[in-house]
Amino acid sequence: MPTARITALGTYTPPGLLTNQDLERLVETTDDWIVERTGIRTRHIAPPEMATSDLAYEAAKVALTRRGIDATELGAIIVCTVTPDMLFPATACLVQDRLGAKGAWGFDLIAACSGFVYGLTTAAHLVKGGAHKKVLVIGADTMSRIIDYTDRSTCILFGDGAGAMLVEAGEPGDPGFIDFTNEIDGSGGDALKMPAGGSRMPASHKTVDERLHYVHQDGQAVFKYAVRKMQEISLGLLERNNLSPKDIKLLIPHQANRRIIMATAERLGLSADQVVINIDRFGNTTAGTIPLATEDAVQSGRLKKGDIVLFTAVGAGFTVGANLWRWGF
Ligand code: UT7
Repeated sequence: MPTARITALGTYTPPGLLTNQDLERLVETTDDWIVERTGIRTRHIAPPEMATSDLAYEAAKVALTRRGIDATELGAIIVCTVTPDMLFPATACLVQDRLGAKGAWGFDLIAACSGFVYGLTTAAHLVKGGAHKKVLVIGADTMSRIIDYTDRSTCILFGDGAGAMLVEAGEPGDPGFIDFTNEIDGSGGDALKMPAGGSRMPASHKTVDERLHYVHQDGQAVFKYAVRKMQEISLGLLERNNLSPKDIKLLIPHQANRRIIMATAERLGLSADQVVINIDRFGNTTAGTIPLATEDAVQSGRLKKGDIVLFTAVGAGFTVGANLWRWGF
């Protein structure tokens, strides 16, 4: 069985910034409150002419260029997103066309903040099973398009961004995919959702007037669930592989709230240098957070070939996921 190895990473964030000071002018909030409760200082916001496929394309291009391969070599493209350009065609089709990835198939994967972890799991199995030699996983979200900038409890949290990882077949013994655990708990569906725009509640004047095309969240319910599950799933996955938290080089968690990450790190007994946090600069970019945080870890030299890295996420659904890899380049 071939190893599934991550061989390249690319990210993209649009240049526009939304600061806490900007938000102070939009809703009743303060920089102090946002920093203390979430750890966020700025978020990137896409210009009106840019949609999720554009962010995804830019991130994909960087990954392919860094790897020095042509898009025609891709077997599949998985776009993890909750903000597709349109419900259909899939954003993966738009990205495939723009990249010129002739011969690749693909699909959009809706798992909210766990999207990128689910995408990595899927790609690892497509590669390990021998179906494809190269699968591109993209996490991309333009959250600013579904955020209500009159709702202070959600508008402070989210930003736009994208990242892509290339998962390739490697030789046995190459650093690569170790294991995963993914779960869903649909009983938590009401805690975080965009109520309208689907077949249950199609768009109407009423749904627009009632602001139902935006993110609605029970923040505390999501917070409590996230803290519990991030720890539980991480520990379970490590134990199953005869590892303890001290054996991992880095935990790269979904970036939803600095306090969720710190609580997880504390419960796992991780030291500060084992945890990547960059929520201060990007906010919660949903499927984009893990590749964006990984980019920081690679650029700063904190993540090197062969290091054990644990990706963990909890998101709307509820969706929960963890992936254990030896970093591949
Ligand atoms: O990726 C998965 C997606 N989401 C998450 O993981 C988010 C999980 N939840 C959270 O991060 C936190 O629950 C929030 C950051 C959303 C909220 O923080 P909190 O510490 O749970 O605050 P809270 O909802 O308990 O609200 C405390 C107070 C309330 O006022 P009262 O009722 O005590 O008077 C809120 O109205 O803070 C108020 N509040 C704000 N105040 C200033 C809520 N949002 C703001 C705000 N600025 N932006």
